[in-house]
Amino acid sequence: MNPMPVLLDCDPGHDDAIAILLALGSPHIDLLGITTTFGNCPVEKSTYNTQRILALAERSDVPVATGAAGPLAGEAHIGDYIHGATGIDGPDLPEPLAPQLSLEAVEFLRTSLLAAPAPVTVVAIGPITNIARLLRDHPGVGPKIAEVVFMGGSTERGNATPAAEFNTYADPEALDIVLTSGLPIRMVGLNLSHQALATPEIVERMRAMDHPVGRACADLMGFFGGTYSDVFDFAAPPVHDPCTIAALIDPGLIVWHKAFVAVETEGRWTRGATVVDLHDRLDEPPNAQVAITLDVEGYWDLVLDALDRVGS
Ligand code: RIB
Ligand code: CA
Repeated sequence: MNPMPVLLDCDPGHDDAIAILLALGSPHIDLLGITTTFGNCPVEKSTYNTQRILALAERSDVPVATGAAGPLAGEAHIGDYIHGATGIDGPDLPEPLAPQLSLEAVEFLRTSLLAAPAPVTVVAIGPITNIARLLRDHPGVGPKIAEVVFMGGSTERGNATPAAEFNTYADPEALDIVLTSGLPIRMVGLNLSHQALATPEIVERMRAMDHPVGRACADLMGFFGGTYSDVFDFAAPPVHDPCTIAALIDPGLIVWHKAFVAVETEGRWTRGATVVDLHDRLDEPPNAQVAITLDVEGYWDLVLDALDRVGS
């Protein structure tokens, strides 16, 4: 089967790093390029961290384009309280082996989509600002997008605030543009990603791979687990972002529910909250497939197999 063409928008970020490595390690994914955004760290660090992850994987051939330094409206909310000062604290990672593109992220996305022979899957695992700017400023690319799969929101509580998940809180106006675009959308929220815990057994399987990729991933989880314990009292860190890539590789790993999803942009205490109408109470047409249940064992087998493939 031909690998699926994917454009990945991210803010590395410990879990973003695992998502990038999963995409690189899967024969089912053709990673056309990576765009970066502010979020876990300022966008310049997102780009630098992306380049270092690609160097670790010996895949500096993958193009990287820098995107949004802040949201469509308001100030940039930075997640250094979880990801540390560098945005990817913990492991010693190699320096970049290739320069970033001179193209800005939205222009790279636009030209990549128009040049693609078939529609491309767009995956967003940070604040979705770049994708919103693409759709707002270049609506003609819509037919070239197979679907948008994003990590963000929740059917339950938030993490950035009691109501709002980090990526959606960072740019709710951007998510509103995507949710109202009419494009096929899959939403992977905290309700799903909190099932993807990097337990000590999982981290040990990373370290036992006995190559730089496995060791770096174990070190990533070590730092990520420490901040998740300190801030949220988690026994193990939820590895959010790779759930989107895993959904592309094996949709059967996740139980989905088609629902109407909206994002709050006005609420004093609820800005950035996703409203997921699982029981059709609002009589609004469904606009997204919402991830509900994860096959946890299957997820980690997929992720660890890909990490080992990249590192070997
Ligand atoms: O709330 C989790 C999301 O915010 C993940 O994408 C994580 O990397 C951060 O960006
Ligand atoms: Ca992220």
